[in-house]
Amino acid sequence: MAEEAARVTAEVSGARSDGSGLQVRDVCRAFRSVHALSGVDLSLRRGEIVGLIGPNGAGKSTLVNIISGYDRPDSGVVTVDGVTVNRHRARDRCRSGVARTFQQGHLFGGLTVRENVEVAALATGVSRREAPAIATEMLTRVGAGEWAECQAHSLPHGVERRVGVARALASRPAYLLLDEPAAGLNEGEIASFGDAIRQIAAQGTGVLLIDHNIRLILGICHRIKVVVGGRNFLEGTPEEVRNDASLAEAYLGRSGRQDAARTADGGTEEPDA
Ligand SMILES: Nc1ncnc2c1ncn2[C@@H]1O[C@H](COP(=O)(O)OP(=O)(O)OP(=O)(O)O)[C@@H](O)[C@H]1O
Ligand SMILES: [Mg+2]
Repeated sequence: MAEEAARVTAEVSGARSDGSGLQVRDVCRAFRSVHALSGVDLSLRRGEIVGLIGPNGAGKSTLVNIISGYDRPDSGVVTVDGVTVNRHRARDRCRSGVARTFQQGHLFGGLTVRENVEVAALATGVSRREAPAIATEMLTRVGAGEWAECQAHSLPHGVERRVGVARALASRPAYLLLDEPAAGLNEGEIASFGDAIRQIAAQGTGVLLIDHNIRLILGICHRIKVVVGGRNFLEGTPEEVRNDASLAEAYLGRSGRQDAARTADGGTEEPDA
């Protein structure tokens, strides 16, 4: 089933799969004296949901910037379906099947929701004839179809986050990188958002999910990667990560009480992925 879904997405996105998925190997990135990433590895396959967590400043967004072509590593390799893409620009990265959302919303407030998604589709080479249908499909997938004709500046926060995901889906990516898509959502909104992410993955897209809501991460991810201080810290199934004593210590030790409290809150939820 997952393989069939992956095949369908590959056809839709036009990106060929050699089965190796998206691979990050030994990536380093420094901003002057700040070593944002020091030898980080990551893998993501189509149809898989991988959680990327770590305290504030751990390097998560920097890694997403590098994978999506908005930044370049000082060293290390990023491959997409076997092709090294380190030096590809963001637009080319998108054509090879990688799409992302931003930690801060990037909608055009003066356009309608539909237009926002259509513009994203057009930017990735979709024709004007195809764009409306793609916008409808992606808005439906994220549960925002009924908001299509609304002005983007007037959206409730939860809908705005969903439309951000629909925009990223407009390129019909094989790999989708979500940087804190659920920030600011209430518990009910997070639950249905999680369902939408599951559906996206079930249709064959690999999803990298960054979020500080550990309940969401443990609930929907197949694997979880923890980075701390720009380094590989821990990786495993939700069960393995939740039971690892060093996780809370990492949050407490390096990021303060707020993250630790979130971790502890979410730790009671049973993962079902
Ligand atoms: N463009 C930049 N210039 C200078 N320093 C940067 C830049 N981008 C990131 N950093 C630094 O790199 C480190 C990692 O930042 P990054 O934004 O990747 O962390 P994060 O894990 O996404 O954090 P958060 O959970 O708060 O979003 C931080 O110390 C940050 O201040
Ligand atoms: Mg970040």
